[in-house]
Amino acid sequence: MRRPPPSSWNDGLNKADNENMTSQTRSDGSLRHLLTIEGLTRAQIEALLDRAAKFVKPIGQAPVTANSLGGVTVANLFTEPSTRTRVSFELAAKRLGADVVNLEVQLSSRVKGESMLDTIYTLEACHVDVFVIRDAEAGVPGLVASHVKPHASVLSAGAGSVSHPTQGLLDALTILQAKKKFDGLSVAIVGDVKHSRVARSAWHTLSTLGVREIRVVAPKALMPDNNEFTGCERFASLDSGIAGVDVIMMLRIQKERMATAQMPDADRYFAKYGLSSERLAKAKPDAIVMHPQPMNRGIEIASDVADGPQSVIRDQVRNGVAVRMAVLEAVIEGRK
Ligand code: NCD
Repeated sequence: MRRPPPSSWNDGLNKADNENMTSQTRSDGSLRHLLTIEGLTRAQIEALLDRAAKFVKPIGQAPVTANSLGGVTVANLFTEPSTRTRVSFELAAKRLGADVVNLEVQLSSRVKGESMLDTIYTLEACHVDVFVIRDAEAGVPGLVASHVKPHASVLSAGAGSVSHPTQGLLDALTILQAKKKFDGLSVAIVGDVKHSRVARSAWHTLSTLGVREIRVVAPKALMPDNNEFTGCERFASLDSGIAGVDVIMMLRIQKERMATAQMPDADRYFAKYGLSSERLAKAKPDAIVMHPQPMNRGIEIASDVADGPQSVIRDQVRNGVAVRMAVLEAVIEGRK
């Protein structure tokens, strides 16, 4: 039998989550960490969106660059796969003049049994100022935040199925660009809501920003528990769930967070919950279609919808860089 490693990567996580929970804001009110949208005020979220909007340039034009992170070092530690979030955090940091290190966790001393915190202390000794962390265990960014030196910041790049705060912000920015307001909008979040950190962060962000009608559309097995998404109307039918909405947010089935036996059959899923152009016609004519990606075309969304005129999926990606620039700048500016 294989012996367990001398210390586990997530050592320390067995403490109660709230013990690991550290305040996201400094005593002067400035943002120090971004671990979750919960607890941020509407004014804080709006300030981040305003800052991010200044970094948005149309696709094809030269990106905004600055030196507000000159001398700062950002480390990306991703223990779950990522394309957009990792690339956009790296580009965001570099475009603001930071040094960036991407730790290839599979090639790091993790495989020799080093704990996450020992890795963090090592990086701190190399003058890393900002830790960008994605992990399958929801408590990891908070655990790290409660152990780093006072000048350092931790930004969650996705924590288990619980939160993905920068995704919540980039989704809000994308909606604001398209609809120019939050008040009076109706938003449907569709698919594997139960296992989705994207859905949870979108819900927190949009409800704080004043979106009053957020609908959750999912088959029973992928519907979140009743004590979550409070105030959202729940729909088992996609047709009624998206009828008349302004925004449709499609989600990927999180197969990595469920047993194989729980996985819905792809064809049957598309027939009931896939967004086709016929179905999209049930929403408002100017409704926008969002997807955090990676997309499974033909399972949760039809290709012609993903690439169609109502899709803002590529705007979401572009806005992801801008939002991450805004968050990085905010936490570093607040140190002074
Ligand atoms: C999402 C994630 O990792 O939570 N992707 C992303 O960050 N844009 C969504 C997903 O994996 O389905």
